[in-house]
Amino acid sequence: MTFEASLIVDRDFDLAPLDRRLFGVFVEHLGRCVYNGIHEPGHPTADEHGFRNDVAELTKELGATIVRYPGGNFMSGYNWEDGVGPKDQRPRRLDLAWFSTETNQVGTHEFMAWCRKVGIAPMFGVNLGTRGPDEARHYLEYCNHPGGTALSDLRRAHGAEEPLGIKFWCLGNEMDGPWQICQKTPDEYGRIAKETAKLMRWVDPSIELAACGSSAYDMPTYGVWEDRVLEHCFEFVDYLSLHSYFVKPPADTSTESFFAQIETNARYIEDTVAIADSVATRKRSSKRLKLSFDEWNVWYRARHGEHLKQAGWPEAPRLLEEVYTAEDALLIGGMLTMFMNHADRLKVACMAQLCNVIAPIMTEPGGPAWRQTIFHPFAQAARWARGQVLRAVVRSPGYANARHGELPYLCASVVDDAATGQTAVFLLNRSLNDEMDLSITLRGLGMDRQLVQAEQLHSADLHATNTVDAPDRVAPQALNGVAIAGEQLRVTLKPASWNVIVTKAARA
Ligand code: AHR
Repeated sequence: MTFEASLIVDRDFDLAPLDRRLFGVFVEHLGRCVYNGIHEPGHPTADEHGFRNDVAELTKELGATIVRYPGGNFMSGYNWEDGVGPKDQRPRRLDLAWFSTETNQVGTHEFMAWCRKVGIAPMFGVNLGTRGPDEARHYLEYCNHPGGTALSDLRRAHGAEEPLGIKFWCLGNEMDGPWQICQKTPDEYGRIAKETAKLMRWVDPSIELAACGSSAYDMPTYGVWEDRVLEHCFEFVDYLSLHSYFVKPPADTSTESFFAQIETNARYIEDTVAIADSVATRKRSSKRLKLSFDEWNVWYRARHGEHLKQAGWPEAPRLLEEVYTAEDALLIGGMLTMFMNHADRLKVACMAQLCNVIAPIMTEPGGPAWRQTIFHPFAQAARWARGQVLRAVVRSPGYANARHGELPYLCASVVDDAATGQTAVFLLNRSLNDEMDLSITLRGLGMDRQLVQAEQLHSADLHATNTVDAPDRVAPQALNGVAIAGEQLRVTLKPASWNVIVTKAARA
């Protein structure tokens, strides 16, 4: 069966410029993300710092723009001093976040070298679990102060003559979570976040700071946490963080419900904006806080049990190695359209994580690296979404969802780049059985449009995965049959498919 749907945008009805930091990722000292992931000194492709070139090349292809580091839960027990200076003098430590041994062979300088290698901006976090404002200001001084003080000269002595120039800093991680090393109440955290932010800005006024929101939308303290924390630190921070991992509960394993998490997370963003703005109102402030969705992904299979205490405090154990399906990739695509459609307040988002740990890139020690299914929608969006997000008006039949009511089959976003004349349209057909006959109107964006790129991600088997033996089982293919007439495009989308269409027009 085929059904009809339409998408209309108008050049004059724009939402916001798309912040390219929406295509961020996350590298935590966890399992095999760093060690035996991006870093494997004995690997045939390793560079002089021990970083795998094959992983670096895939990271570039993924198109990530910013990377959060060094955690995660790991951050709440981390001593930054352990990861600088001569490697043979660095301490081995128990990592209480993941019950592993941390060797500290990768630290601040090595990670910055990797960021430069792959062309990604760093987003660092400070430990507000076991530590506090004093260590945070010292770490920032070590990294960003030009020189002439003990800490900045120590950095120079460690080989970095110039400041590292780390602009984005997270004030701790998931401080509301009982699993966190030194969980805090909202008042405890709000106070410490404020004082830490104050000191860090005095050290370097050019930085941007993100405070921890709740660690999930369904935390019992969600809402109260945001309100209390911001009561303390609203004036001192630029961003509030959101984290979300998409699950398929055993009680409801339907794909339709799984895809409805797009709306759940849209609501999470909108509710968080509402709370932040209500704090602003209470404080008689015109400031509008920005959001940083700095952990997000599908994560429900390799989730339970493994992070509990393991025998022997292993180094780089295989933890949270989720194997992604075609169905997951479609949800990721839909989630990216939703992020774009919130570009007015959502400025940063980090897929968690990058390599091996709930990740788009997998590796085998001494062996190959490959792309998981979720790699593809991310890479396509990161490549083509540039410019101004336009307000997408969607008309589509849909399906009933217990939480959200009637949901359209079509999820769409449109980003227009006036500089190149290119308009990118991102489309998820959530119907599992029916083709979508879609008409797209790009009003006021120029006539005589040329097709630049049209690709679809679709698999007859929603459970198909990419593995070391079959790394390209799920991969984008050409989307044929895009008809262009004036401002109008027409195309048929397969059921359960994610699609990207880029066209270009000569502009007046
Ligand atoms: O990404 C894995 C973990 O999930 C992170 O360490 C933590 O912040 C979150 O709970």
